[in-house]
Amino acid sequence: MVFREKILEAVKVPAFDEVYIVPSLAPVDPSLVDLTTRFSVNVSLKIPIASSPMDMVTELDMAVAMSLMGGIGVVHRNMEREKQVEIVKLVKEHPPVRLRPMYVEPNEPCKRVLDYLKQVGVRSVPVVEKGVFLGYVNYESLKQCEADKPVVNVVKPGESFTVNSLKEATEKLLRGSYDTVAVLSKSGFYLGTLVYTDILEDLSPVTDSEGRLLVGAAISPMDIERAKALDKYVDVLVSDVAHFHNVEVLESARKLVAEVSSDFVAGNIGTEEAAKDTLSTVERVSGLRVGIGGGSICITPEVTGAYAPTLWAVATVRDALEELGVEVPVIADGGIRSPSDIVKVLAAGASSVMLGYMLAATDEASAPLIAVSGKYYKPYRGMASKSAMEKRYALDRYAKVSKRIPEGIEGLLPYKGSVYTVVKDIIEAVKAGLGYAGARNIEELWSKAKFIVTHRGHRPPYKG
Ligand code: XMP
Repeated sequence: MVFREKILEAVKVPAFDEVYIVPSLAPVDPSLVDLTTRFSVNVSLKIPIASSPMDMVTELDMAVAMSLMGGIGVVHRNMEREKQVEIVKLVKEHPPVRLRPMYVEPNEPCKRVLDYLKQVGVRSVPVVEKGVFLGYVNYESLKQCEADKPVVNVVKPGESFTVNSLKEATEKLLRGSYDTVAVLSKSGFYLGTLVYTDILEDLSPVTDSEGRLLVGAAISPMDIERAKALDKYVDVLVSDVAHFHNVEVLESARKLVAEVSSDFVAGNIGTEEAAKDTLSTVERVSGLRVGIGGGSICITPEVTGAYAPTLWAVATVRDALEELGVEVPVIADGGIRSPSDIVKVLAAGASSVMLGYMLAATDEASAPLIAVSGKYYKPYRGMASKSAMEKRYALDRYAKVSKRIPEGIEGLLPYKGSVYTVVKDIIEAVKAGLGYAGARNIEELWSKAKFIVTHRGHRPPYKG
């Protein structure tokens, strides 16, 4: 009877698609909803979004974009330690403005550059040779130039700006004398181009006390050397193991935390017991990454039978924290496919969400763009998928638990364009969601949101 009862008494846990939030009186216009939150105890964000530490998602471009938009990127760890440190340093050196790799080389033919200017809709563009800024070419002078002649013939010297003179660069663009300006590093190397239309965009970067973009880095709790190497530069170290609730991992994390000073996010965990064991073993936990097996590319539930679905896991862990009287932000990780999932999981107690799938097919994701029969795609894969493991990428994350049996899959996602547009749309929808729930901020959402369980039957998937 005991075994039969085990099955009959199993709790029914609703999935994302089975719960909805009951509409309530909106206290403010959704555009005024405030999404500020904390990723970890000392890392505050303006939007509750982090990009997953996955090799097809977060490297330099994604990390910069996330922080510029008020979220945070967590740089993946499936690379040499030195490379990961280098990427994190580059994020910290990046000015808190959007720069594009928009430039031409001196030997490019005038006609091609003229066509390029028309295509991207600017009147002038910096000319750069091997990182050295040479000046600008503009529409008028290119029209005078013979089609095949290199643009170097019509380069005009022009002002460049350094990361210290971004205010002047912005003023220059606003005065309209240029529509692109070159931005150089302190040592004089071309960093990128500031474009007039970008400065009009409503970006709200999150920065550290020195005005540098925020960034996180993934680590294995077993790899103290990597954590120490990253610690000098990152704002937060994020544990990146599939099952943190493991005696060896807990013990390593306990030792690791004593060696670093950045915030430390523990995870992934999915139960009350795991939350309690984590907090009682590891002294300085600044955040909890919650959800096991829920990711779009995860097959852990199919392979191992273990599953802590993100919505349920978040609510469970959050309750455990309330019971302990501990204020540690919860990061909902895995299986979030739409803004509505974000609203639901925030309402279930999360402070932020970690997204892989929703950000993976964008320009800034660290995966190549692939054309198949005239359509564009970006590859996306679980860090414990066969190909990632073959490249020895996921060894410490999953090998011990699964003995190298893949717990992730891989595939192609239809290309979505710029992550700036994708995240802007998500944020607008999440703000609307908080409005419907009757909340003006995330804390109010925690206290006010009421769930109902229902099935909507067949409905169109979110395509954003
Ligand atoms: P989404 O649904 O946003 O999920 O694509 C991203 C999260 O999935 C986790 N992850 C994995 N989980 N096998 C797993 O079981 C894997 O191969 C794998 N790779 C990533 C991770 O937590 C990520 O943030």
